[in-house]
Amino acid sequence: MTSTRHDLLILGSGPGGYVAAIRAAQLGMNVGCVETEQALGGTCLRVGCIPSKALLESSERYHETKEALAPHGIHVESVSFDLAQMLKRKDEIVRGLTGGVDMLFKKNRVTRYTGRARIAGPGRVVVEGGSNPIELSATHVMIATGSKSATLPGVNLDGDRIATSTEALAYPTVPGHLAVIGAGYIGLELGSVWLRLGSRVTVIEYLDRILPGMDAEIATEALRLFKRQGMEFRLGQKVTGARAEGAGAIVECEGKEPLRADRVLLAVGRVPNTDGLGLDSVGIAPDPRGRIPVDEHFQTSAQGIYAIGDVIGGAMLAHKASEEGVACVEWIATGYGHVNYEAIPGVVYTQPEIASVGQTEEELTAAGRAFRKGVFFFRGIGRSRALGQTDGRVKMLADQATDRLLGVHIIGPRAGDLIAEAVAAIEFGASSEDIARICHAHPTLAEAVKEAALAVDGRAIHA
Ligand code: NAI
Repeated sequence: MTSTRHDLLILGSGPGGYVAAIRAAQLGMNVGCVETEQALGGTCLRVGCIPSKALLESSERYHETKEALAPHGIHVESVSFDLAQMLKRKDEIVRGLTGGVDMLFKKNRVTRYTGRARIAGPGRVVVEGGSNPIELSATHVMIATGSKSATLPGVNLDGDRIATSTEALAYPTVPGHLAVIGAGYIGLELGSVWLRLGSRVTVIEYLDRILPGMDAEIATEALRLFKRQGMEFRLGQKVTGARAEGAGAIVECEGKEPLRADRVLLAVGRVPNTDGLGLDSVGIAPDPRGRIPVDEHFQTSAQGIYAIGDVIGGAMLAHKASEEGVACVEWIATGYGHVNYEAIPGVVYTQPEIASVGQTEEELTAAGRAFRKGVFFFRGIGRSRALGQTDGRVKMLADQATDRLLGVHIIGPRAGDLIAEAVAAIEFGASSEDIARICHAHPTLAEAVKEAALAVDGRAIHA
């Protein structure tokens, strides 16, 4: 057994782990990073955010060419697509980005270990999987092992007809009928991909709404728009099982008709990845939901062992993990490091996009917080008309007394880019009046953000 010592050893190379590794190297630490997969980058780069965005883009281009060009006076005689090419393009994007992380590691002299990491005691990690286990030692250890798809009792995943997002990013043919269990981020994004490519898509959701946790007014509008696109919904239905039958599958719903489909995508959330990590060797006990408890500096109950990203509490988002990884290593190196959880955006990359930051109207009402609300519709924006994308709205919530921005929720074209202004405003403790007084270029979609800010005070110009 060979042995190597590091200042910091990071378990997992997702957007939490790899970003933390690079930042720690910038701060002068001797860093090692252990990753089980051959490709660096974690779920996000390999089988999550990036490949799904590649397919969302390709499928939207196809759908737009087929359905949305006539009003522009553009007539396309016949449109078809080559699924194998779409999947190849997606794989090339993934290869480019995961290879990019490899290059960044080399540039920053981060040592990469391939294999399964197991904590073997304070400051000790064993990497298994190669011909010989390697024993590593480190002053600091960071757990950044992310999450995996949650399962449902009775749903028999077979890696083919009944499967998770990983398989839904690579179906070799377009399913005739795709049943999606769960109307969250994954179900709606991947449901959109296959709907655009010609599948009939039925989303089954336990709650009587979609996108739990998002502002209800925005989620209601999203539901209306998805239905208009042809996505079917069975809301308020609890899935109790799914099994392969014949060439397809059957999904059982409590007290309701079962649903027959060609493929089933299970997307009912994700759970922290702590299997085989050896947490008990250092006395770390996950909470009842499998998450590793940490303090405000991401320290676990074990001295010198930290955890960040999906394995701890909070939103399971790549950028939240990156922020935590950076804050954690900066705190180790300098004694400073902080994440502002009020200013973490969430984006659903459907058409239109849905983006949000801060508190929802429901959260403010439940907390008894007095607020003012401004809403502006994209149909009032010149650039939206020119784009031919007039659905959606910007909703701004500000404190009744101080006008401080508390939440911004957008459904509409490029919402995922527009939210950045709101995130910056919340980070800087801005008021809605601050945004209302900023000059926004005309004609741009960002004018909808300014108009919503004006609407908080009842003085939107184009309403
Ligand atoms: P989610 O938590 O967003 O949604 C899961 C849905 O499944 C919920 O609406 C829930 O009510 C429903 N559900 C649970 N049990 C059910 C049952 N028995 N029958 C029917 N419905 C049931 O989870 P999702 O979509 O799997 O995403 C997992 C994580 O990945 C999320 O935390 C999300 O933040 C992250 N993600 C983020 C993306 C982004 O930032 N664009 C894209 C994809 C995933």
